[in-house]
Amino acid sequence: MNPISRVMLFLVALLTLPAIAALAQAPVAQTPPMGWNSWNYFAGKVDDKGIRDAADQIVATGMKDAGYTFVNIDDTWEGERDASGVIHTNSKFPDMKALADYVHSKGLKIGIYSGPGTKTCAGFPASLGHEEQDAKTYAEWGIDYLKYDLCSFIPDVMQKQAPHDKAAQMKIMIAAYEKMGKALKDAAQQTGHPIVFSLCQYGWDAVWEWAPALGGNLWRTTGDIEARWQSIYDIASEQSGLEDYAGPGHWNDPDMLEVGNGKLSLAENRTHFSWWAMLAAPLLAGNDLPNMKPEIHAILTNKDVIAIDQDSLGKQARHVYSDGEVEVWARPLAGGGMAVAVINVGSDRQSTHPFHLDLAKLGLHGEQSGKDLWTGKTVTLADKQPIELNSHDILLVRLDHPRM
Ligand code: GLA
Repeated sequence: MNPISRVMLFLVALLTLPAIAALAQAPVAQTPPMGWNSWNYFAGKVDDKGIRDAADQIVATGMKDAGYTFVNIDDTWEGERDASGVIHTNSKFPDMKALADYVHSKGLKIGIYSGPGTKTCAGFPASLGHEEQDAKTYAEWGIDYLKYDLCSFIPDVMQKQAPHDKAAQMKIMIAAYEKMGKALKDAAQQTGHPIVFSLCQYGWDAVWEWAPALGGNLWRTTGDIEARWQSIYDIASEQSGLEDYAGPGHWNDPDMLEVGNGKLSLAENRTHFSWWAMLAAPLLAGNDLPNMKPEIHAILTNKDVIAIDQDSLGKQARHVYSDGEVEVWARPLAGGGMAVAVINVGSDRQSTHPFHLDLAKLGLHGEQSGKDLWTGKTVTLADKQPIELNSHDILLVRLDHPRM
């Protein structure tokens, strides 16, 4: 090669390097992640076939078209480490790379689960002392998303290293998440393939204040959700006040959806889904997709409600006011719009004393014209208008041109 060609080659390499680096840094989770996770319905029974079935169903049912992208394997996929410390799958998952390829071939993404301790919550091997190695393995498999669950790190490390010092324990915990955040970033630099980082430590030590700086794209804000109204209500209530911490690339995570699970009524399923959309929460369905009832499918694929969740402004709803057992939440939308949710959180309401909407409390003046996102019809909201809602039901309205 002559000296000129050599210089040219050097220049080309120099110019391409930043492009490759930029690729690795490609922003992820600019809107709240959407997909499905195995835990809420399958728990320890998840296997390779269950994940393939879920991916097939997401495509076949139109959920993919509605925005569901991630197929996330939760706990219990983990096998043993080999002599070099590399993590392997257990017999339920014969070939993780092949599974990731399959999910990708459907135009979907795949997520996995681990934790900073010696063991996961279900007692399977976790990442302590193998963080870089595991991040590299995930990247090699083509994993797009990691949920990293504190669990045994509490007794294994935090309580052992700082037995009676809670503040020191929290510092140790943050360092553990920082370590995996860095490992994922390094692995992504090498492959050019970003991995969404989901922190699961139940909202300890105001995680929303420190998680974005270490690369967290979402963080659980509470303990585990259950498929009962009280659990959904308690978790939603705890989100009030956290709205300023959410935004493109970093989201509060009130846990995965229970829509279609347990004995939730249709109104409760509708309210749960709407509330999570108002909260700009990740929408990770957790139901039995191959046996999904049509009315559950209709809820999970309501495009108008999903559009609230995925709104590009990324502003989480605020609890504006309560009047007895009725709560009013609102969030601004891109383009100057607003979404308003009126929720009857009580177990009953006497129709002789309906709830009256106070528009001024929402910063609105005069009659408002919008869309009821569950009937699809145009609605008018007038000041002091009586609103009748059944127990645990919701009125969700999108105002594209609110009159302030
Ligand atoms: C914890 C998490 C759950 C789930 C289980 C798995 O309880 O909060 O979401 O991942 O562990 O063991």
